[in-house]
Amino acid sequence: MKTTTQTIRQLKGKRPIVVLTAYDFITAQLATEAGVDMILVGDSLGNTALGYESTIPVTVDAMLHHCAAVARAKPSALLMCDVPFAVAGHSTDYLLDVCTRLLQVGGAECVKIEGGKLIAEKCASVAQAGIPVMGHIGLKPQDVLQLGGYRKFGKSAAERQILIDEARAWEQSGAFALLMEMMDFETAAAVTEAISIPTIGIGAGQGTDGQVLVISDALGLNAGKYPGFAKKFVDLRSIAVEALAQYATEVRERKFPE
Ligand code: KIV
Ligand code: NA
Repeated sequence: MKTTTQTIRQLKGKRPIVVLTAYDFITAQLATEAGVDMILVGDSLGNTALGYESTIPVTVDAMLHHCAAVARAKPSALLMCDVPFAVAGHSTDYLLDVCTRLLQVGGAECVKIEGGKLIAEKCASVAQAGIPVMGHIGLKPQDVLQLGGYRKFGKSAAERQILIDEARAWEQSGAFALLMEMMDFETAAAVTEAISIPTIGIGAGQGTDGQVLVISDALGLNAGKYPGFAKKFVDLRSIAVEALAQYATEVRERKFPE
């Protein structure tokens, strides 16, 4: 059965919501067959599939290209696409135009937008246009140039209050859900309590309404260091390299093709 934004809303308080990223046709099929609730074409596309060091270089065209590939897998999961760097800081007209294209050209069914109170208020226009929005607060990787790095949010009482206010602003602007990244666990639980829409966490502990993971982290496909909150459910990278090395050996030894 097709998962809709209504399905996601209704899961709050019932059972945890499962969100996974995907960037192309194959990863979308994997996520679909695994039965996740939502697929996110995240701008983590930049760090994973495109080899950039942050999400800053990811363009609207890149998001459209990859979202359309994911959509071709016809996932039963709800398909969400990230609004990339700086778009939400432009005029409301431009933001609306990009979101419209993510749905009409990219095949997304909802969008995710990083932002605090001001952006949340601006996004009321997006929701009113019929485009379901998920807000994204806490660590907002698109702010990395201002932050000078990545850190956890909501440790102090003052910052906790700011995050609760931001969450309420997203709820009031008509967002159907809220993503919270790298957030103090108690703060994330307090935000989840404070609003009626579901919260999806990453590095935000157990007290959220759902979890999101980057597929290359979950599958163990990345080289090098993993974020502390990520869990490698399998080490596919070593399995894949071993298989491909065997291919190379068999060709060189004239064992393949038989
Ligand atoms: O781009 C992404 O993958 C994300 C998740 C980390 C939440 O925004
Ligand atoms: Na993102």
